[in-house]
Amino acid sequence: MRIVRTKNYEDMSVKAADLIASVILLKPNCVLGLATGSSPIGTYQNLVKKYQDGNLDFNTVRSVNLDEYKGLPRTNPQSYYYFMHDNLFSKVNINLENTNLPNGMEPDAKKACEEYDTVIKSMGGVDLQLLGLGHDGHIGFNEPNTEFDKTTHCVDLTEMTIEANKRFFNSIDEVPRQAYTMGIQTIMEAKTVLMVVSGKDKAKILKEAFFGPVTPSVPASILQFHPNFILVADEDALSELDK
Ligand code: F6R
Repeated sequence: MRIVRTKNYEDMSVKAADLIASVILLKPNCVLGLATGSSPIGTYQNLVKKYQDGNLDFNTVRSVNLDEYKGLPRTNPQSYYYFMHDNLFSKVNINLENTNLPNGMEPDAKKACEEYDTVIKSMGGVDLQLLGLGHDGHIGFNEPNTEFDKTTHCVDLTEMTIEANKRFFNSIDEVPRQAYTMGIQTIMEAKTVLMVVSGKDKAKILKEAFFGPVTPSVPASILQFHPNFILVADEDALSELDK
């Protein structure tokens, strides 16, 4: 594990974008594993800036996203497809045919997950997987006590997640109850894993995940065993380590 210590969210985002850009420069047809959520938004903004400045070309870049809600169409602003489009895909010259997310509109979970695993395999695996860290240590939608050996699977969202997500919807009834997510095995198979973590509210779980025991009760802790895991975190997120 390598830790890149940054001053704040902005600095974290610049450095994470630099690391991703270096992968694209070295392998223009690389497979990027992408994440949604608030942590990577700044990273995407910096990647867009590099593209706009003429310093980065996404023309042959391929991508697979970590997860997608089951039952939300791409046109729904809360879908992860919409998020990716809004924050990155529509702002750079990536070929949309080279971008992939689990098919949230496939009602047959087994089919949707098998198809997604096939897509990832056919691309030759993920070169760099970008991740955020959940407050309970989740990565993707792999909540505490998910087995480490899962590939893409369907998860029932916890009451806590449904409750946390309801602010984005008109009513709690509209919040999806299930999602498709890459499993921990899929994430561990990425050649490089890059996690971005910012803020005091993540400090406790960051310490637990990367300086505590490796356990399914803290899913991110498995990354301690990844041969090429880079944690880009700001001072607030690292603040519990100094204690
Ligand atoms: C995103 C994802 C989630 C988030 C995590 C942290 O695709 O799968 O695991 O990375 O919930 O979210 P933020 O970054 O909003 O704190």
